[in-house]
Amino acid sequence: MRIVDRVRALGLASGPGAEREVLLARIPSLRTGAAVGAVPTVARLERTAPPAWTEIRVLAPEGWLELIADVLALSPCTSVAFGRPSLASDAPPPGLDYVRTFVPEARDNPELRAEVQRRLAELCESTGAEELRGLSAKFLPLPPEDYANSWKKTWRPFRVAGFAIVHHDYAGRPRATDQRLLLEPGGAFGTGRHPSTRGCLRVVRERARSGDRVLDAGCGNGILAVAAALCGAEATLGFDIDSAAIPYAETLAHDNGVAKRCVWRVGGFECLEVADTGFDGVCANLFADLIQSHAAEMARRLRPGGWFAISGCRSDLRVSTLAALAAAGLQLQECRTRGRWDTYAGILPADC
Ligand SMILES: C[S@@+](CC[C@H](N)C(=O)[O-])C[C@H]1O[C@@H](n2cnc3c(N)ncnc32)[C@H](O)[C@@H]1O
Repeated sequence: MRIVDRVRALGLASGPGAEREVLLARIPSLRTGAAVGAVPTVARLERTAPPAWTEIRVLAPEGWLELIADVLALSPCTSVAFGRPSLASDAPPPGLDYVRTFVPEARDNPELRAEVQRRLAELCESTGAEELRGLSAKFLPLPPEDYANSWKKTWRPFRVAGFAIVHHDYAGRPRATDQRLLLEPGGAFGTGRHPSTRGCLRVVRERARSGDRVLDAGCGNGILAVAAALCGAEATLGFDIDSAAIPYAETLAHDNGVAKRCVWRVGGFECLEVADTGFDGVCANLFADLIQSHAAEMARRLRPGGWFAISGCRSDLRVSTLAALAAAGLQLQECRTRGRWDTYAGILPADC
């Protein structure tokens, strides 16, 4: 099974790479270990002294990146990121891209390195793909840095869709019309910078009303539910399969003074209960295949006339995704594209 199938997580690494938003496949066996339903407390977010890290980097043909990610998904590597390490790095040659994972320096050893190279060397035989012959990994020591906090050096407040996303130390004054959203990026997806999050925030800002009940499917750090609460929603329910994300959501809701109106759950759509219905709005920033397979479920959770904000869908999958939304009875009113990401907004018609 592909690593993305196992985890379906798009997010920020909590180790090196955490300062940039990357497409990330987390490695389930290396999570916090918290069982579903056992939400780690906010206190667990506190960090100890930063470890040094080794980056394991493989330059691979573009069509095989997920397979390479799977190869790198071995203990004690922490997360897998795609693409070059920073915009300042050299771009990969055409047709190739980097797959990178990170291991604490203390656990980087000759056995691990040999195992990575052995797994890469097997790929050509196991797939029959000649272009995978000769793949090898580079092991690059990273400078010791507190990656959980180093984003602070470059993190700047920004505006999106009438939200001013600011951090605790921000001393400036947002525009009078802006809704202030206090956010410090952590180990869960949702800094507000990703085009899919921005797209959903725009819909939330335009459609969420005072008194709304809003569902946030794949809440990550809870940014969409918290944004809805800041727009006046009286109750939000966010859920995520990544148990490590929920403490960040709790913190975000607390920091923005809306914790009493936000409920978080660990799990997928199956964690919704019979009573979780009649929502005024549903947000879902998830991969297109999940949107397609859960479109009917989302429609069922909305009240007639309720709104939806759906993103995380690549524009090349638009036709099949929109067909699934239509089949579920969801009426599309807007489709906005940023980069390769589509955001869809619309309603469940009142006569549905
Ligand atoms: C792209 S992030 C969106 C985070 C945040 N809502 C935002 O808009 O920035 C997708 C989130 O969905 C979660 N996720 C993936 N598959 C899921 C599923 N089947 N059920 C619930 N959450 C899921 C991931 O763990 C990740 O936190």
